[in-house]
Amino acid sequence: MKATYFLANFLITSLSIMVGLSLSKLARPAIPAIAHHFGTKGRYEEVNPHLLDDILFVNKSLVAPPSPDCRAIHMVSVIRHGTRYPTTKNVKKIARLFELVVSHASGSASWLNDIKTWKMWYTEDMDGRLVEKGRDDHRHLAMRLAQSFPTLISEDHLRANRIEFITSSKHRCVDSVKAFQEGLHRLWDVQDMDYKHYVDDSLMRFFDHCERFVESVEKNKTALKEVERFKSSAEMDAVRRKISSRLQIPYSQFTPGNLAFYISGQFV
Ligand SMILES: *[C@@H]1O[C@H](CO)[C@@H](O)[C@H](O)[C@H]1NC(C)=O
Ligand SMILES: *[C@@H]1O[C@H](CO)[C@@H](O)[C@H](O)[C@H]1NC(C)=O
Repeated sequence: MKATYFLANFLITSLSIMVGLSLSKLARPAIPAIAHHFGTKGRYEEVNPHLLDDILFVNKSLVAPPSPDCRAIHMVSVIRHGTRYPTTKNVKKIARLFELVVSHASGSASWLNDIKTWKMWYTEDMDGRLVEKGRDDHRHLAMRLAQSFPTLISEDHLRANRIEFITSSKHRCVDSVKAFQEGLHRLWDVQDMDYKHYVDDSLMRFFDHCERFVESVEKNKTALKEVERFKSSAEMDAVRRKISSRLQIPYSQFTPGNLAFYISGQFV
């Protein structure tokens, strides 16, 4: 349940530069209705449903300065990587669970047949890498931020290296920070610049490097007691029993670990 981020540090001069943006609507992609049940974070589209119709939609009144006298000076954005594949560890768990259902579940329901004939298409080498939607998350976010804060995120500032990009070394984060810059380059039709970023794991993956965090949270069983309480709760038990009964697979085959995070979205 770790989150990995990159930081976009927008360093701003006192100049106020307006950038005229003409943004065309992009075609609405085919998104399965169950999409919002999946993933380790909510989609931007969940928070702002206007994005389903127009991925570049910005509500200008929400990003207006609190008073007409205020001027944007500096902005720091901490941005999570985009939509990604499951990590290797989770691909293995999904595969084991799928095997269990294929080999042990019984019944004649058509949904069971649908599950059994599903193709397990996740492969271990996907290992948490970005999917194309994840790159789009960042391209579009960059364009929306540029539209929201045109005096900060502008082509001039980008070209003058006043916008600083810091990322962790994690491949999905490095790919996200590149996609973010790609979004800006596309917006301004920049063709003569490379992408730039700094890797700083002590800042962006503090959960690996910060001794106090590792000792007091990561290795500390009591710090994560809510997770244990969730796994051993009556609600979790009810879900295990319900799934076990519908698939006609012994209850003991489902552990809270596999059930909670890997099966419920698909089978409940
Ligand atoms: C934009 O935000 C304002 C303030 O929250 C809200 O009143 C308005 O309905 C929003 N406009 C759209 C199109 O969502
Ligand atoms: C472990 O976590 C608990 C609960 O947050 C906290 O009270 C305790 O001080 C932590 N132990 C260490 C060694 O940091």
